[in-house]
Amino acid sequence: MSTLQHYLQFTDLTASQYAYLFDRASLIKKKFKAYEKHQPLVDRTLAMIFEKASTRTRVSFEAGMYQMGGSVVHLTTGDSQLGRSEPIEDSARVISRMTDLVMIRTFEQTKIERFAAHSRVPVINGLTNEFHPCQIMADIFTFIEHRGSIQGKTVAWVGDGNNMANTWLQAAKLLDFKVNVSTPQGYEVDEKIAVSAGGISSDHYQSYSNPLAACQDADLVTTDVWTSMGYEAENEVRRQAFAAWRVTAEMMAAAKPNALFMHCLPAHRGEEVDADVIDGAQSVVWDEAENRMHVQKALMEYLLLGRLS
Ligand code: CP
Ligand code: NVA
Repeated sequence: MSTLQHYLQFTDLTASQYAYLFDRASLIKKKFKAYEKHQPLVDRTLAMIFEKASTRTRVSFEAGMYQMGGSVVHLTTGDSQLGRSEPIEDSARVISRMTDLVMIRTFEQTKIERFAAHSRVPVINGLTNEFHPCQIMADIFTFIEHRGSIQGKTVAWVGDGNNMANTWLQAAKLLDFKVNVSTPQGYEVDEKIAVSAGGISSDHYQSYSNPLAACQDADLVTTDVWTSMGYEAENEVRRQAFAAWRVTAEMMAAAKPNALFMHCLPAHRGEEVDADVIDGAQSVVWDEAENRMHVQKALMEYLLLGRLS
């Protein structure tokens, strides 16, 4: 069981595995666009466990699994015994005896780690308080499609030091690009969570108090909601603290002329991003959302069947 490959955080795969997955996602996407069948997962079942709301993650995993010939089981806290205190370890033992793959969206990272430790099948992180690796995989794939390799490039993160920011830092170190992070005071990334053993160098991470300065000469500007799921009680305090951390046309103008804008969505126009930015020419948010499905198809295929080309 210890040889199982899970995907619980971005650092669970190597740079060479990502290179394979991005190539594979590109092939799988081309086939999808050409209405060409790609069904390597016939008779395989994905269990999807949602303890938080979702649109993109559910649709991308569910549609992706059906397209690959498999099927899905959808569970939420409210309609399963997970919400009635069945231990996560017992749930893992049972669910992983009946399915081939499990995707979980939950709160603490420790919860998904406990599930994985008792699972007979690979487990994928569909978002935790700490990380959102499938989203960053899709974001980097989207960058590559539009601009080529991300190695040596600069990403500006404007906003909360949250699960997305943590995962960007993991990716920067692993795939050798830089993230300029600007968060309000008190909402910094927790480097202990984001950065694996050995720390992170200034080639890969720099922190800025001024969001405009973080965007200077960036190749990609990105942000996320001011209040992530699970932190709703802080909504009003955050609204005030984050007022200056809205991605504006001025920030996009400080970035490189061909800089892209990304947002994992859902977005709040007029809060973390102005409408003219997210709906503007530099925004690739719809490609980014669609690419969740293509990279996750490549990921599911890889976790179940290994390298195929
Ligand atoms: N970006 C993302 O994970 O979206 P959902 O919350 O809709 O799944
Ligand atoms: N940081 C956000 C991402 C939503 C996809 C959250 O955790 O709610």
